[in-house]
Amino acid sequence: TSEIDLSRTLLNWYDHHARSMPWRVGPADRAAGVVPDPYRIWLSEVMLQQTTVAAVREYFLRFTSRWPTVQALAAAPDDQVMGEWAGLGYYARARNLLKCARVVTDDHGGAFPDTYDSLLKLPGIGPYTAAAISAIAFDRSETVLDGNVERVMARFFDIHDPLPGSKPQLKEKAAVLTPRQRPGDYAQAVMDLGATICTPKSPTCGICPLRDPCQARMAGTQPDLPRKTPK
Ligand code: ADE
Repeated sequence: TSEIDLSRTLLNWYDHHARSMPWRVGPADRAAGVVPDPYRIWLSEVMLQQTTVAAVREYFLRFTSRWPTVQALAAAPDDQVMGEWAGLGYYARARNLLKCARVVTDDHGGAFPDTYDSLLKLPGIGPYTAAAISAIAFDRSETVLDGNVERVMARFFDIHDPLPGSKPQLKEKAAVLTPRQRPGDYAQAVMDLGATICTPKSPTCGICPLRDPCQARMAGTQPDLPRKTPK
């Protein structure tokens, strides 16, 4: 099976099973020409670092109704933003969030830059977030590697080398599968697959769109992957 077939299979699955999220432009809307708001994609991705989708939902809705644009957020008093953030944890993230909103507003005319390298220069945006924003908000063919994607790759290719050492190898595999068609939907498809089917415990392989070509499933090793170096 070629990489193109695999990404098509995942995109086809996503077309039918994409989770609905307040910041997400679903596959049907995207196909109809709706483009995501980079501010909302950025805000959601920063909130989703180390916090679950379920927990982020209400925070995201409160933030965006109070501050609908990056300019509005940039103009907010620090203590009000910190107050709305309370409960999400990792307060350095909230400080960087405000810093980033002010840099985008003051130095970029209120428009998020649209390439991986330029996004990476902004406060609080690391390799994961830069790739996620350029893929999801700007439909660029960037490889997004989070815990979900690492698990899907380790299983699909039956990679037994433990994390975190295997990260570069998993990234390489993920890069080979990243399509040039619909990269934004594809990035979200892999994350949704990892969150709903290819779960850490008891993955539901019977309903997985990749069950036939999955190397770990063939070997029966999927419950043991990805391996982790003991702390
Ligand atoms: N986790 C972090 N970002 C996500 C996204 N855009 N879709 C699904 N899960 C995610």
